[in-house]
Amino acid sequence: METHSVRLCHISTLVLAVTLLPSLTSSSSASCNFAAIFNFGDSNSDTGGLSAALGQAPPPNGETFFHAPAGRYCDGRLIVDFMAESLRLPYLSAYLDSVGSNFSHGANFATAGSTIRRQNTTVYQSGYSPISLDVQSTQYTDFHRRSQVYRSQGGMFQQVLPKEEDFSRALYTFDIGQNDLTAGYKLNMSIEQVKAYVPDLMAQLSNIIKNVYAQGGRSFWVHNTGPVGCLPYVMDRFPITAAQIDRFGCASPPNEVAQYFNVGLKEAVIELRKDLPLATITYVDIYSVKYSLISQAKKLGFENPFLTCCGHGGKFNYNRFKRCGSKKIVNGKEITVTSCKDPSVRINWDGIHFTETANKWIFDQIVDGSFSDPPVPLQLACHKLDH
Ligand SMILES: *[C@@H]1O[C@H](CO)[C@@H](O)[C@H](O)[C@H]1NC(C)=O
Ligand SMILES: *[C@@H]1O[C@H](CO)[C@@H](O)[C@H](O)[C@H]1NC(C)=O
Ligand SMILES: *[C@@H]1O[C@H](CO)[C@@H](O)[C@H](O)[C@H]1NC(C)=O
Repeated sequence: METHSVRLCHISTLVLAVTLLPSLTSSSSASCNFAAIFNFGDSNSDTGGLSAALGQAPPPNGETFFHAPAGRYCDGRLIVDFMAESLRLPYLSAYLDSVGSNFSHGANFATAGSTIRRQNTTVYQSGYSPISLDVQSTQYTDFHRRSQVYRSQGGMFQQVLPKEEDFSRALYTFDIGQNDLTAGYKLNMSIEQVKAYVPDLMAQLSNIIKNVYAQGGRSFWVHNTGPVGCLPYVMDRFPITAAQIDRFGCASPPNEVAQYFNVGLKEAVIELRKDLPLATITYVDIYSVKYSLISQAKKLGFENPFLTCCGHGGKFNYNRFKRCGSKKIVNGKEITVTSCKDPSVRINWDGIHFTETANKWIFDQIVDGSFSDPPVPLQLACHKLDH
């Protein structure tokens, strides 16, 4: 399985070298000048949604770049922040954040713990956000409509809300699905049981993309799901035998399910391209990028890729009852779970999420289209390739 994904990286690099330049016509080489980003997702791209709804991510989250908690489960910036920087747009305000938000260049509907499907448990039982993708979509629709009602009143609303035409000139980004897979494991479902609901996940995600298209969205940038079996919170929690650990140290069964999800996602994107003729949909292979980061950690100058920077105890410095930033009694003394000395040499931030340095590395791999289908750079993701 692991050799498979490493081989995939080589193939996509080859495909890029062979196909990118000849197939981009001159008209499609002009920068898209995206006016806004509207993002849908989970903690991989949450810039403050869950914090606004249910309480701030505690320090030391945010310490490296923002020097204070900034609604992100990370020491600094996320991939979506690097995307905004690269498109010369401000960082995205969370739709739910009522204080200090400026939505003129987009809005972020993602919340940590979000799933594609509604869960049948509350966040207090299972930790999954009530803001599932269908809710994010409803919020987007509401935002679109109400932003125009208020914008027409003029004044300060014009400064903080997007123009109607910007909804068609925006990039719509999606990074969601990881929590739908772990939700099944938490319910003690077998690998086969989890795989069995992947088609339902694809149907629901496709409907959301169609809803955005119906409202004028044209450019879509869809991240596939990462190798969740390489993350301490999954390796720590779910029963995995020694034989199920791959040669780089990741748990194979959850990674196989993630790859199964990704095959389904790629097929769903191909169907969407047929159904939505005016859309440009870029599928980005985040799985291969994250897997190659973890499997080549040493070579790339990182320490043990499984060692959590902000955590406490256990094999991976991760304990789900002593999470990053929480206060706990240990041997009768109150401790706060703090971060490692140098997050920049770590890949894993808190057992679940990547550090800013890792996010930057991942972003640098995907920005030029090397891991995308079609292999179009971020700046050009409004153009269709000529075939
Ligand atoms: C929630 O329960 C309904 C009714 O039993 C079921 O159809 C649905 O699949 C469940 N959703 C999840 C995410 O388990
Ligand atoms: C909101 O952001 C836009 C774009 O960066 C900027 O032009 C505008 O002045 C900002 N408005 C406020 C009130 O901060
Ligand atoms: C899953 O299995 C574990 C171990 O047998 C058990 O403690 C837990 O209650 C089960 N969870 C659910 C949701 O059935």
